[in-house]
Amino acid sequence: MLKVTIDNITIDVEEGMTILQAARMIGGKVVPPAMCYYSKLKGTGGKCRTCLVKVAQSSAKDPRPMPKLVASCSTPVQDGMVVQNLTSPEVQEARKGVVEMLLVNHPLDCPVCDQAGECDLQDLSFNYGMEETASEEERREFPVIDIGPFIKLHMNRCILCYRCVYAADQLTSERRHGVMYRGDGSEISTLIANVIDNDFSGNVIDVCPVGALTDKTFRFKSRVWFIKPMDAHRECGRCSGKGTVWMFGNEIYRVTGRKDQYGEVEEFICNECRFEKKELASWTVEGPRKIKRQSVISANHYEKMVQPSIIKPIEGQMIPPQNEL
Ligand code: SF4
Ligand code: FES
Repeated sequence: MLKVTIDNITIDVEEGMTILQAARMIGGKVVPPAMCYYSKLKGTGGKCRTCLVKVAQSSAKDPRPMPKLVASCSTPVQDGMVVQNLTSPEVQEARKGVVEMLLVNHPLDCPVCDQAGECDLQDLSFNYGMEETASEEERREFPVIDIGPFIKLHMNRCILCYRCVYAADQLTSERRHGVMYRGDGSEISTLIANVIDNDFSGNVIDVCPVGALTDKTFRFKSRVWFIKPMDAHRECGRCSGKGTVWMFGNEIYRVTGRKDQYGEVEEFICNECRFEKKELASWTVEGPRKIKRQSVISANHYEKMVQPSIIKPIEGQMIPPQNEL
């Protein structure tokens, strides 16, 4: 085991772990944000720089600090390493710059974006965003296109985190999209329109940290904070059949994988469960989903609701009308 100290908290971790994984073992606010790393997908990380931290001591053997801030998702822990995240003003300042960079091309269209309320970039901007930007250039613009029968691509919103590319590589039999071109010309594309149709392709929507890939069966149906996430399962021959159904009354508006506190899917689900089973009869509803991540969707989901007791009139007393109760 190796000893690592992050923001003055020391823990033992296994050899080979990254600083981000070690921070997730501590949990809470010590954990750096991550826009491209996804623990369920191999090879992710190292693209967005939101997880930057300061290594104040490289190891017990070499107490020198690392000369630059490092990406915590791809820097392995060493014995005796001392890391600063929240405790370093330099890291906090650098993260503001990273957010500004991510927003250079990202439109500020949260009011009309389906991802609003559960968007990692929205949360990050809330925590680190600045009112003004140094950038004077026009944002890149792309038409909104169908990249499959169930998925729309808003390339304007893409932050090129590559998560969807790794997801398509590792979850589907044939990846049909990728990042085309280089530098500031890079974009997610399929070459041929409307070709992504394999069984697990819907998971690219779940792994996308922003609203670049959206579910065509749910688009513009509701803001996510108006619908209630419920854990539900069904018999499925392709996947575990365990998902979250998002309900308005008795209607299922959308189905997603169950996500943890880092917004990562616990088990990937198939397209049939996600897009084609929207009737309540297809699912066994287990109960309200506890949303652990810090975002708008974690509010107002009635997990702690106490059923109001039936009001019994006291003899001789008038019952006030319902709207005055
Ligand atoms: S579409 Fe989404 S998941 Fe894919 S690279 Fe862009 S931001 Fe990342
Ligand atoms: S999460 Fe580490 S670089 Fe993106």
